[in-house]
Amino acid sequence: MKHALSNIAVLEGDGIGPEVVKQALIVLDRIGQKYHHKFNVKKLMIGASAIDATGNPLPDETLKHCKEVDAVLLGAIGDPKYDNDPNAKVRPEQGLLKIRKELGLFANVRPVKLFKSLNYLSVLKEEVLQGVDMVIFRELTGGIYFGEKNREGDVASDLCKYEAYEIDRIARLAFVEAGKRQGKLCLIDKANVLDTSRLWRDRINKLKVEYPDVEVDYLFIDNAAMQMILNPAQFDVILTSNMFGDIISDEASVLGGSLGMLPSSSAGAGARLYEPVHGSYPQAAGQDIANPIATILSLEMMLRDFDMIEEADDVLAGVTYCIDHELLTADINKKEPLKCSEVGGHIANAILEDKVASDFGVII
Ligand code: IPM
Ligand code: MG
Repeated sequence: MKHALSNIAVLEGDGIGPEVVKQALIVLDRIGQKYHHKFNVKKLMIGASAIDATGNPLPDETLKHCKEVDAVLLGAIGDPKYDNDPNAKVRPEQGLLKIRKELGLFANVRPVKLFKSLNYLSVLKEEVLQGVDMVIFRELTGGIYFGEKNREGDVASDLCKYEAYEIDRIARLAFVEAGKRQGKLCLIDKANVLDTSRLWRDRINKLKVEYPDVEVDYLFIDNAAMQMILNPAQFDVILTSNMFGDIISDEASVLGGSLGMLPSSSAGAGARLYEPVHGSYPQAAGQDIANPIATILSLEMMLRDFDMIEEADDVLAGVTYCIDHELLTADINKKEPLKCSEVGGHIANAILEDKVASDFGVII
């Protein structure tokens, strides 16, 4: 769907969200100028900042607009003042969970591709990282996150429930992706204990006959957590439920040395949502030191989904340019760290070498 005009809802959110999103919008503006696309951007509230302003982590206006656009770009959500208060009636994260549910974003896609020249930063030995290139498909609108919750004094429960159709729709996306890659799909579950996991296995076993080119493998989550450190290069496409995907993707995100590099997209029936994997990093908020690359690479995923392949390749080339020239923030470049805005500026300039002035670009 290559649009002359794309409508994008931008939800900056909390902490470093506004800073990293700002850099992504500068990059988007350069893409607009270079390729003569108009990106119609509207900023809306979500998370703790929305609670402060309206009492609601997902104001109706935000939700309504997000349902009408071609894509949503999100910064980050979360504020420590809620984390330390188990009795808070309303939480920033509720805004994120609600928008996922309301937009039907059932498949969260988290690619873990490492930039070789940064491998030395990883907590793992460089030889363990050789060949790491995986993508995690995390179910996003079901399971324990959304099951019935109960709290009666000292007794609490969260129901983990899955229906076959919820498994099948994300599994099909994962099978198709595996077919385009190395043809390996690994289902991560806890089928030795959980009935929901046994349902996942049943469904995958049924579906796999439709994808004869894809080899299916199964791992229990505890073993998978260990394998992710011992031999992460074994993974191609990982398919897993909401909670296991949350955990394993954070683990996978440290392989490359910085959580600040990993993008994600969430797909459903309609518009997709793009967001960095990292959180709101409140300690760094307002200091212009956060790494904008995860958000800029999320933008790259958005452009690819818009079928703007050259444009997406340009964004990736801009990021690669910064990595090659060590034009990077403090999480990666300890010696001579650049500011968040400087990194964004370098990426944007790398994209628009000829600096054509035009009235195209981002309209806010
Ligand atoms: C993520 C985050 C969210 C989740 C939180 C902020 C609710 O950790 O996107 O991985 O658990 O899904
Ligand atoms: Mg998480």
